[in-house]
Amino acid sequence: MEIRLEDVWFTYDGASYVLKNINLELANPGLYILIGPNGSGKTTLLKIISLILKPSKGRILVNGVDYWGLSDESRQIELKSRIVYVHDKPILLRGSVEYNLKLGLKLRGDLRVDESLVEYYIDRYMLREILDKPASKLSSGQAKTISILRALILNPEIIALDEPFTFLDASRTSLLIQDLARIASNGSIVIIATHYIHRELKPHIKQVVELINGEISNI
Ligand SMILES: Nc1ncnc2c1ncn2[C@@H]1O[C@H](COP(=O)(O)OP(=O)(O)O)[C@@H](O)[C@H]1O
Ligand SMILES: [Mg+2]
Repeated sequence: MEIRLEDVWFTYDGASYVLKNINLELANPGLYILIGPNGSGKTTLLKIISLILKPSKGRILVNGVDYWGLSDESRQIELKSRIVYVHDKPILLRGSVEYNLKLGLKLRGDLRVDESLVEYYIDRYMLREILDKPASKLSSGQAKTISILRALILNPEIIALDEPFTFLDASRTSLLIQDLARIASNGSIVIIATHYIHRELKPHIKQVVELINGEISNI
């Protein structure tokens, strides 16, 4: 799967553009970093790449197809389901940790689901003891972990993570970096918006895209 942004602009209020003249190609698997100061447009760009927000100007080509030019129906079914966006703030539903973890499997039956991955992540992130715990009772680190794992379990072709390491302690951060690097080297596009590049992340990075004031910096 490949995504190409062609001269993309975005405005929330119809007056000022928070993204300007964005040209970007995510054509090969690997780990991409979107970096930039607060308010530079990282979250907005990540949502555009994830096909959540529609550009105010410009085009998004998904495998060469103009995504927003498609009918509503083909948009949802064809392409969107292979891309997953993980919010910077963990969004969990009522119910247990286990329910929240496995929810994605229920909602997105069309993805290549690997049930054994669920078990793998439960052990790896030491979630076995809290599987029955109400999600509302979790610490922010636990909630963030669950919201990320719920996405990884879907095996998406493109996974966009907004500030994934905030709220995570050092050991969970290391685990997640290893997992994201493995997913990227197994053929997915992993794109991470962050204001800080962890040392452990560096050897795995394919490309860094820097946003300054809504524009890609070419320095
Ligand atoms: N829902 C919104 N409505 C209006 N303006 C917004 C909204 N979300 C973000 N913005 C503005 O868009 C700009 C870029 O924000 P954002 O994409 O969140 O940047 P970053 O993730 O790099 O901090 C900021 O000036 C922010 O205030
Ligand atoms: Mg942001």
